[in-house]
Amino acid sequence: MTETGGSTPLVKLEGVNKHFGTLHVLKDIDLDVQRGEVVVVIGPSGGGKSTLCRVINRLETIDSGTITFDGRELPAEGKALARLRSEVGMVFQSFNLFSHKTILENVTLGPIKVRGISRQQAEQRGMELLERVGIASQAGKYPAQLSGGQQQRTAIARALAMDPKMILFDEPTSALDPEMVQEVLDVMVTLARDGMTMMVVTHEMGFARRAANRVVFMADGQVVEQGPPAEFFTRPSTDRARDFLSKILTH
Ligand SMILES: Nc1ncnc2c1ncn2[C@@H]1O[C@H](COP(=O)(O)OP(=O)(O)OP(=O)(O)O)[C@@H](O)[C@H]1O
Ligand SMILES: [Mg+2]
Repeated sequence: MTETGGSTPLVKLEGVNKHFGTLHVLKDIDLDVQRGEVVVVIGPSGGGKSTLCRVINRLETIDSGTITFDGRELPAEGKALARLRSEVGMVFQSFNLFSHKTILENVTLGPIKVRGISRQQAEQRGMELLERVGIASQAGKYPAQLSGGQQQRTAIARALAMDPKMILFDEPTSALDPEMVQEVLDVMVTLARDGMTMMVVTHEMGFARRAANRVVFMADGQVVEQGPPAEFFTRPSTDRARDFLSKILTH
């Protein structure tokens, strides 16, 4: 049964280890994400941030430890895994939209195929979501006809269409031209304020300051330190984090 009352974390990782061959990518990770919490994950390239996201919706398996989502251990396969995937939205750097489907079709496909919602209902809700992310007027176009920022907002609407309990964002603005970064971050800030549980890998410190409850600094497969953004950015407690921050803040 789903736990209510908000006391159990939505996601709980305990002693999680993951290797790629001989490479130890996640080292004994213990991490909780509370319901409604916005966790920003930052850290140097290759530190395991994407892998951390991917193990939470089981795009990658783990070697040891446990991960629970909404009070249940992650399912390995079948219907339970399909349900998990629908409950954990994912937004990638590369948008991953279906190029031969319209913007609205990209948003309605999941609800129709996976949730069995009628086309009419899915389209109505899809239009509401496109409105919410500011691109309702683009509904009939194809992804290639949209700007990168508009495509990424489509990807966010598509994730929302499944009514997820959480959304994972892996560098959602890294592939965008600079002038389009803000429009995507603004949508994410609104989502955060509306209470969506989010884990966001990003180097956008402005977003972290505006929207994050907690910043997790990851390096070499470990959570090196974590804390509220105001604290982490002004008084990082490890040399590793200080060094990283000095590099990204002055680049
Ligand atoms: N499918 C895979 N097979 C083998 N090695 C992998 C695979 N995915 C990731 N790795 C390796 O695992 C390590 C962690 O990768 P990961 O993508 O999680 O890091 P990251 O923190 O997201 O880095 P970046 O900031 O560059 O996105 C890296 O050394 C990477 O090369
Ligand atoms: Mg990555």
